Amino acid sequence: MTDSLPVRVFADRTDACRALATEVAALVRTINDSGRPAVLGLATGKTPLPFYAELIRLHCAGELSFARVLTFNLDEYLGLPGDHPESYRAFMQRELFSHVDIPAANVHIPDGMIGSAGLEAHCKAYEEAIRAAGGIDFQLLGIGRTGHIGFNEPGSPRDSRTRMVELDPVTRQDAAPSFGGLEQVPTHAISMGCGTILEARKIALLAWGQAKAAIVREALTGPITDRVSASFLQEHGDATFYLDREAGSLL
Ligand code: PGA
Repeated sequence: MTDSLPVRVFADRTDACRALATEVAALVRTINDSGRPAVLGLATGKTPLPFYAELIRLHCAGELSFARVLTFNLDEYLGLPGDHPESYRAFMQRELFSHVDIPAANVHIPDGMIGSAGLEAHCKAYEEAIRAAGGIDFQLLGIGRTGHIGFNEPGSPRDSRTRMVELDPVTRQDAAPSFGGLEQVPTHAISMGCGTILEARKIALLAWGQAKAAIVREALTGPITDRVSASFLQEHGDATFYLDREAGSLL
């Protein structure tokens, strides 16, 4: 256990996302000015929505271009075609990519329709693409009520890599309303591993609302354990939690 992980608590999620988006835009500009593309690891779910809204605002204001940004998403449901509205490919298109100037070739999201025969090679190729891009400069994370980052559910090893994962019942329950019922929620996904995520040079984990307060406390102040994959962030060195008052209320 450590208390060294930086935590920033904001009045609300809009304030938090404004602060983080300003930092990320500056990082992208600095990296681009140094002569190379910036590599962003992106997340889905409700949590990052105000962050993406703020990135779009900065883009429209002429303060952020994605022309030399490469992106790698954390995960994708298995068995959903890319045009399914709940697929993470469709989510990213809808919430960010269609509003900014990112070239389609710069976007990487695991293929949820990869068959079992091609799955292992697909996961290896995803890891290889991250390496070939020079590694992830900045990784955005949410946190599930199971403590997952990406879809690294309890029991995911510290050194896990991109692979097929089984979703925890709590995670499927939380996703059920968006899918119109538990039966419709996929049982498996492809996810970057904890090891993949922890290699990012800079990480921000976002959490909003009372429902995340207990797991946020556990991740920050509890033991470092594969029962709570977000607890591995305590050892990262450049990971910061961005919280609203409610998510930070038990600290
Ligand atoms: P949420 O999911 O943003 O929809 O709360 C977060 C997560 O499961 O990582």
